[in-house]
Amino acid sequence: MNEPLEITDAPKIVVAIDGYSSSGKSTMARELAKRVGYVYVDSGAMYRAVTLFALRNGLINEDGLVNKEGLIPHLHNLEVSFEQKTGKDGVQHTLLNGEDVEKEIREMRVSSHVSPVAVIPEVRERMVQLQQLMGKKKGIVMDGRDIGTTVFPNAELKVFVYAGLHERARRRWRELANKGMDIRFEEVYSNLEERDRIDTTREVSPLIKAEDAIELDNGAVTHEEQMEWLIKLFQDTIERIENESRS
Ligand code: DC
Repeated sequence: MNEPLEITDAPKIVVAIDGYSSSGKSTMARELAKRVGYVYVDSGAMYRAVTLFALRNGLINEDGLVNKEGLIPHLHNLEVSFEQKTGKDGVQHTLLNGEDVEKEIREMRVSSHVSPVAVIPEVRERMVQLQQLMGKKKGIVMDGRDIGTTVFPNAELKVFVYAGLHERARRRWRELANKGMDIRFEEVYSNLEERDRIDTTREVSPLIKAEDAIELDNGAVTHEEQMEWLIKLFQDTIERIENESRS
């Protein structure tokens, strides 16, 4: 089941996986990329890294207001990249100007300020620019909110992932607890609820399903079923493209 797929000669495609916070889309995207030998990009981590930069530089005040004028001039110098760790900790780490910030960007301090940072059009413009560069050579799986609508509107495969708020909060709370973070379930629940509200109602690139995205209700299936479904979808897409290029 977890064997890499034999797709060396196949055309490379772009896979866009969008959906709500903690819907399980990152796990799916990461696993698909690993199976098919593609690059994986967690675009949410990029918005989190910018938020961390703003917090560290005093650009978010106690009431959560972001100092846009202070942040915008720094954007063109901000580099967010990823490093694949080897060995026991074989996960991807997010780098902010070369510094490993993977642990810090997952903390509640960042989670509770990221949505107001992600609504700033200039922030989105810079992140989209970096994301499009990463996908230039294709062979990429990227997850986020606007990947199939704004970043890669021509992606060959688009998936939109749903899951109920309670289920997502449970998943997120367990994840944080497993990392040793002491946090109440209610806090995680209301943070997700608020982020859903901001993500779906913001003016620039709100979270919506791309017309040609295929939906998955992630609350209704097991992880194995989910992956089987996604891999089949990936293989069908490659086959379709191969057939199209032959005809
Ligand atoms: O996927 P995540 O929860 O780590 O994302 C963090 C925040 O970043 C989320 O609240 C909305 C924002 N985001 C976005 O606006 N656009 C993306 N493509 C990815 C994330």
